[in-house]
Amino acid sequence: MKIRGFRLDDLDRVYEIELNSFSNPYDKLILKDLFNIGMCFLVATIDDFVVGYILFGLKTIDTGHIMSIAVDKDYMNMGVGTKLLIKSLEYYVIFNVFKVKLEVRSTNYKAINFYKKMGFIETNFVHSFYEDGCDGIKMSLDIDVEKVKGKE
Ligand SMILES: CC(C)(COP(=O)(O)OP(=O)(O)OC[C@H]1O[C@@H](n2cnc3c(N)ncnc32)[C@H](O)[C@@H]1OP(=O)(O)O)[C@@H](O)C(=O)NCCC(=O)NCCS
Repeated sequence: MKIRGFRLDDLDRVYEIELNSFSNPYDKLILKDLFNIGMCFLVATIDDFVVGYILFGLKTIDTGHIMSIAVDKDYMNMGVGTKLLIKSLEYYVIFNVFKVKLEVRSTNYKAINFYKKMGFIETNFVHSFYEDGCDGIKMSLDIDVEKVKGKE
């Protein structure tokens, strides 16, 4: 498995993963715009086939924000999500960002477990955080890259 930067010719495949992963997927053009405005965008590949992606950026000058992460259902539970998340944390550290935040649906137990395993803690519960009325959980991580690497 390899992690590399997103390229525009990955867009259709990333959008396919997006559609299969979320009830409220990002529009294809939004994904393209996020890339074009400079959002950090990485893909995971197996034999040059894109199996997952992560989109991340900054919330403030010293706090990162994981915007989205998804792995193709056929490739879940193989460590792909872990590798993508670790790579994003490595980028944050390069830019002296040591705190990262995210929001997740309170019903998304798989993702909540995944983030907890990576060391994230729940910081807030937000009623009706999402447009469809679903509650949200805010999570936060103080990055310790060496510790995170040990989870691979
Ligand atoms: C969350 C997601 C990115 C995890 O990716 P993944 O490649 O399957 O995760 P990994 O294989 O690296 O698993 C890491 C950990 O996640 C948790 N996890 C993964 N699948 C799980 C499942 N089916 N049930 C419970 N926990 C699970 C476990 O803690 C696992 O650790 P373990 O293997 O030691 O048990 C993936 O499930 C996904 O794309 N989900 C749909 C999109 C989504 O919800 N994104 C997050 C939006 S906030």
